[in-house]
Parts: sequence; structure tokens; C-alpha cells
Amino acid sequence: MAYETILVEHRDAVTLITLNRPQALNALNSQVLADLGKAFAAYDADPSQRCAVLTGSGEKAFAAGADIKEMADKPAADFYLEDFFSDWQSKVVATRKPWIAAVAGFALGGGCELAMMADFIIAADTAKFGQPEIKLGVAPGMGGSQRLTRAVGKAKAMEMCLTGRMMDAEEAERSGLVARIVPAADLLEAALKTAATIAAMPPMAAMVNKEMVNTAFETGLAQGILTERRLFQILTATEDKKEGMAAFVEKRQGVWKGR
Ligand code: CAA
Repeated sequence: MAYETILVEHRDAVTLITLNRPQALNALNSQVLADLGKAFAAYDADPSQRCAVLTGSGEKAFAAGADIKEMADKPAADFYLEDFFSDWQSKVVATRKPWIAAVAGFALGGGCELAMMADFIIAADTAKFGQPEIKLGVAPGMGGSQRLTRAVGKAKAMEMCLTGRMMDAEEAERSGLVARIVPAADLLEAALKTAATIAAMPPMAAMVNKEMVNTAFETGLAQGILTERRLFQILTATEDKKEGMAAFVEKRQGVWKGR
């Protein structure tokens, strides 16, 4: 598939998606959002692909937000009638297979929100996260007020949204926003290596583990524990469960069928 604003490569079973508007610090205009929606749907539908990494081109930014120049003169009614930020986001969030955001430099506004849609974030030591929309007279519009609050708690989320201040990589790791920090020069290699580790797992079990952890994020404890138990029970019926347990007993690597 051809994309205008992103690059998509396959590295064995790992899909690498790169936001490619470095001259605009990878700002998310409508074309980027449409391209991302298509790329994530294609990744999810391709059985040869088992994990994805989303990153930004250039060292300066993962993405500096939704495209301010595109939004500046757009009438409010158009935002509402088009349900702006809805369609592509549903496609990205609906991705059932695992994916990682590899963030170097600025992840601001929609850029921070996009990174938080990932299953987890690996950050370069140069990463800076923020929701500075208030300075533009608006507020987060791609889930930032909700996901950031769940990730780092009310105090930090509220402070960041109300002041627009950025969080550096150290603070982001301390606060639970990112899984791990690596030196900027090693970011892509570290993210691809982690993705390859996930890609080597039984693929259905990877999807189920993702669904379970997301349930913890999105529902209450009783519902989450019930969902976990049921999904665990479903996995016990798979060929990969039989193979995984036999491989353990026989002291060999499992060979996965994905079902
Ligand atoms: N939209 C459009 N263009 C952007 C952009 C954005 N969000 N962020 C940066 N750019 C463009 C700049 O306009 C500039 O282009 P020109 O060379 O044509 O002037 C280019 O990228 C480089 O940016 P700067 O010259 O500003 O670089 P800097 O190093 O001086 O500053 C920065 C970097 C602090 C990230 C600054 O660019 C900035 O503050 N960007 C905007 C951040 C922001 O407010 N993001 C939130 C957007 S609203 C949103 O995302 C809504 C939502 O929740 C969905």
C-alpha cells in the first residue's frame, strides 16, 4: 500500500511505521491520520506480522501534535460534523495485535496522545512528553486527558494539562508513562529487538495478553478478573498451548501455529 506521510517497512515479523514529516516535527495532519489508520488496519490483517513499532523520523520529534496550521481556520462545526479525530483513532486503538511506540524528542499534544495509544512506550533519553493544548486555547482531543490521567495519576496529569509543562524521559519513567528509557542512539534497535521478542511469542497468546492488560486499564477489578479468567480458559484450548507445554516438558523451543 502507498502512503504519503508515513513509511512502512517489514522486518521479518515486525512492522516498522515511521511518521515522516520531519520538516513539521511530524505534526499529525489529516493525511498522516488517514495513513496511520490504514497502516494499522493493514498490520492487524497481515498474518505474517506479529508486532509493530511506531516511531518518528528525525531526532527532534516523535510528533509535535495535531497540525496547528491545518486546524487554525477550521470552523468548529466542521470539527463536530466530521467527528474530527474519530475515524483514524478508532482504527489505531482497535488494533488487536501488539505495538510499541518508540519516542525520541517531542511527543506533544496529539503526539503524546498517539504514543499513549501504544501498548507501551520505549523512550529515548531525549523524549519530552506534554499536553500543551491549553496554550492554544483548546484541550487534548485524542484521549490525552483520559490516558495521561490513568497512566500518571490526577496530580501530574492535571498539572501538565493546566500548565502545558513537559515531562522529561526520567520523570515519565518514574511516573509510569514509559516502560523503559534507552540512549537516543539505541532507541530504534531497542524497540525493534523488543518487538522481535514479542513477535516470537505464540501470536494468539500475545493478543490475549494485550486484551487482558487493556481490560485492567479500561474496566473495574471484578470485570477485569472475570475477563482474565475467561480468556485464560479460551487459550487452554489452543494448539499453541499444547505445543508450549509439550515443548517445556521436552526441553525444546515451541513452534507456533497462531491458533
Ligand atoms: N503543527 C503544525 N506545525 C508544527 C507543529 C504543529 N503541532 N509543531 C511544529 N510545527 C512546525 C513549525 O511550525 C515549524 O515549521 P516552519 O519551519 O514552517 O515554521 C517546524 O515545525 C519546526 O518547529 P519550530 O520552529 O517551532 O521548532 P522549535 O524547536 O523552535 O520548537 C516545539 C519545537 C516546542 C515542539 C514547537 O514547535 C511547538 O511548540 N510546537 C507545537 C506543540 C503543540 O502545541 N502541540 C499541540 C498541538 S494541538 C493538539 O495536538 C490537539 C490535540 O490534542 C489533538
